[in-house]
Amino acid sequence: MSAEAKKKTVVVTGASSGIGQGIAIAFGQQGANVVVNYHSDEEGANETLDRIKQGGGSGFIHKADVSDEAEVEEMYRKAEESFGQIHILINNAGIQQDSSFSDMSLEQWNKVIHTNLTGQFLCARAAIRHFEQQAQPGPEEMAKGNIIFMSSVHDIIPWAGHVNYASSKGGILMLMKSLALEVAPKKIRVNAISPGAIATDINEEVWSDEEQRKALLKLIPYKRIGKPEDIAKAALWLGSDDSDYVTGTTIYVDGGMTLYPGFVDNG
Ligand code: BGC
Repeated sequence: MSAEAKKKTVVVTGASSGIGQGIAIAFGQQGANVVVNYHSDEEGANETLDRIKQGGGSGFIHKADVSDEAEVEEMYRKAEESFGQIHILINNAGIQQDSSFSDMSLEQWNKVIHTNLTGQFLCARAAIRHFEQQAQPGPEEMAKGNIIFMSSVHDIIPWAGHVNYASSKGGILMLMKSLALEVAPKKIRVNAISPGAIATDINEEVWSDEEQRKALLKLIPYKRIGKPEDIAKAALWLGSDDSDYVTGTTIYVDGGMTLYPGFVDNG
């Protein structure tokens, strides 16, 4: 895989921490060129790029708000200018702003939908426009472009107190599938990864507290909280030619969280 990844350029959004950082570093360790997108954590983005370089990869850091059309266009323009062809988009940037439904402000709703869903739309559209300019490969050749959406188990597991977040992820499921159908004849692949509970900043409040951690583990049949590397390994495979016949699919990397764990001794 590494010789193949060496030739590839990957845009990773939200690459300054957590899952995005893990994926960006993993591609870097395979020798890829990586565009390290971040929104506010410049220090985290620097750390990501350092680790990409230590791993034998290369790339640059680009600050952009994925929900801003002009900033996304500019990021792609710069990536094209630097690397020519871009092969993979890891459409990862996402946030949570939790609230009970009756207390949820329009701002909290909009912020999450704009970043998680509109942001993934804008980045995917920029990627598709870029891929479409590439020559059409022959029937036996591998895909000319590849998009991986970062979804969540909450694209199918309802989540009380997080309606904005679950709605954005449910939206990504159909965005991913409908787009996959539309662009498959152009030999562009589109898939998603739905992580379960991965220990990152987004859920630190839960995994760092002993009681909450215990309660969380009850929801994970495999009995461990995930790591960004668990997701990075799936992303490397989906981004590689080894998965060339896979499109329109979601891989749930969740230690069995989507298996209805409440039914293990009940029902
Ligand atoms: C959320 C995490 C949560 C996990 C499992 C993820 O999509 O961002 O906060 O721990 O789903 O519920």
